Amino acid sequence: MLNVGVKLFVLLFSSGLVRTGDSDDSAVPQWPPGAYCLLAAEGGCFEPFYTSTIQLAVPKVIQPGDTYHDDDKNTTERFIKYGKVGDSLLKIHDFDQVYRLKIVACCKNQ
Ligand SMILES: *[C@@H]1O[C@H](CO)[C@@H](O)[C@H](O)[C@H]1NC(C)=O
Repeated sequence: MLNVGVKLFVLLFSSGLVRTGDSDDSAVPQWPPGAYCLLAAEGGCFEPFYTSTIQLAVPKVIQPGDTYHDDDKNTTERFIKYGKVGDSLLKIHDFDQVYRLKIVACCKNQ
């Protein structure tokens, strides 16, 4: 078999398992070795991952509907896109007049 140095692995999000392309089908699935982080889904992290979070709140200077021109794509884009991706989110706190960005990752060291 031609070895082109590409390592494949499959993430099974529902069960939190990873199967590497070079492992036997009968092998116990496990996370590939190494230090890395994945964006956390709702519900937090599971072993061997630990939760890692960063957060930023900035004054609401730019209005929610303000746009800019993306020269690369020749399109008009909104500066602010509210949303939630797993446990990460971007939202506005009207009372404090700030935008709050929170990024939650599941990380492992080895
Ligand atoms: C960018 O989009 C505008 C409006 O659709 C168009 O008139 C213009 O030709 C486009 N410019 C480039 C460089 O594609």
